[in-house]
Amino acid sequence: MLRTQSSGPGSFADFDLSRVPSPCFVVDEARLRQNLEILRGVSATADTKILLALKAFAMWSLAPLISEHLSGTVASGLWEAKLARKHFGGELATYAPAFKTSEFDEIAALSDHIVFNSPAQIGRFSNRALAAKADIALRINPEHSEAEIALYDPCASGSRLGYPISQIETLPDGLTGMHLHNLCEQGLEPLKRTVEAVRPFLEAHKGGYRWLNLGGGHLVTRNDYDRGGLIELLQELRADLGVDLYIEPGTAIGFDAAILVGEVLDVTENQGLVGITDISPTCHMPDVIEAPYRPALLGEDGDVNVRLGGASCLSGDIIGDYNFAAAPKSGQRIAFLDQAHYTMVKTTTFNGAHLPALAIWNSETDALRIIKEFDYEDFEGRLS
Ligand SMILES: Cc1ncc(COP(=O)(O)O)c(C=O)c1O
Repeated sequence: MLRTQSSGPGSFADFDLSRVPSPCFVVDEARLRQNLEILRGVSATADTKILLALKAFAMWSLAPLISEHLSGTVASGLWEAKLARKHFGGELATYAPAFKTSEFDEIAALSDHIVFNSPAQIGRFSNRALAAKADIALRINPEHSEAEIALYDPCASGSRLGYPISQIETLPDGLTGMHLHNLCEQGLEPLKRTVEAVRPFLEAHKGGYRWLNLGGGHLVTRNDYDRGGLIELLQELRADLGVDLYIEPGTAIGFDAAILVGEVLDVTENQGLVGITDISPTCHMPDVIEAPYRPALLGEDGDVNVRLGGASCLSGDIIGDYNFAAAPKSGQRIAFLDQAHYTMVKTTTFNGAHLPALAIWNSETDALRIIKEFDYEDFEGRLS
């Protein structure tokens, strides 16, 4: 079981949950701006470009704010690349474990950098990437695990993500960049160990690439992250290898900047209190089941234990066990913390569950905008 990384409710402690429809993701743009300012500071001091991994957080209505602070975005394929070019500014790097021949030219035309997963993919597509004036990079697999669980470990045995460094003798022709990613919501120490593990490979091929991207998973915006140490490490690496540096976090951008508001629909009893809510983890925050992890509940307090779950048919559609001051009543609003990343990009309408509305709140001005509500047509439109 993973721990939630949330540092607490922050300004959401004062947010009136009845101001939004239910369910609803509420993003605090003031907190998002604080995260972005931290990242911009690190980027400037460490002379390292920071790109937003759209797979984690792709709320394009906030793209102007994000693009003001970061150097660009990272896409996982054609549709994210199109979204990036339409809404976000800066550089665009596209990585996929394998590219589809039919989509490649469009991806290359949109992207500044194409990160390939293997020398064979480079062999197949490099001419087309160069014709589109896109940089060519290779994602290496550092064969050094740091993630706590295999589900989130790109270096787990048999991984398809990145080319194992033990299999690389010479670098493919035409390479401009080198990419690696093996962390997941982690601090500086795992990154330092990774760099040490991969350093002999990077040194051996020095001069064969002009930039190095250290992937995502760096929780730089958490208060206890050693940002000074990160800056030192990046400066040292840059000088040692003579390359430009990138990192591409996703989680760190939206960290603790959003809640998911829901409503208790009913409370039943089966060896304890069971609360059924309009938040379905399988539909709205699937990592709760997949990781699994227990998201923090806003204002959790008291000694009445209630197991909360969704209104779907899935037996395991359970959020977790939570303490309330009194048994919750039907209609009572609840909210889970730190729900910006890997949530709204992953929602589904399984069981006809409603997609949460999207709202932007500013905790400094108290301005609230409901920017999107979904309806029956969104559900029907994805089926035929
Ligand atoms: C290649 C790559 N880059 C960046 C990220 C973003 O990671 P995070 O959101 O943990 O910072 C991921 C996450 O899976 C990834 O696979």
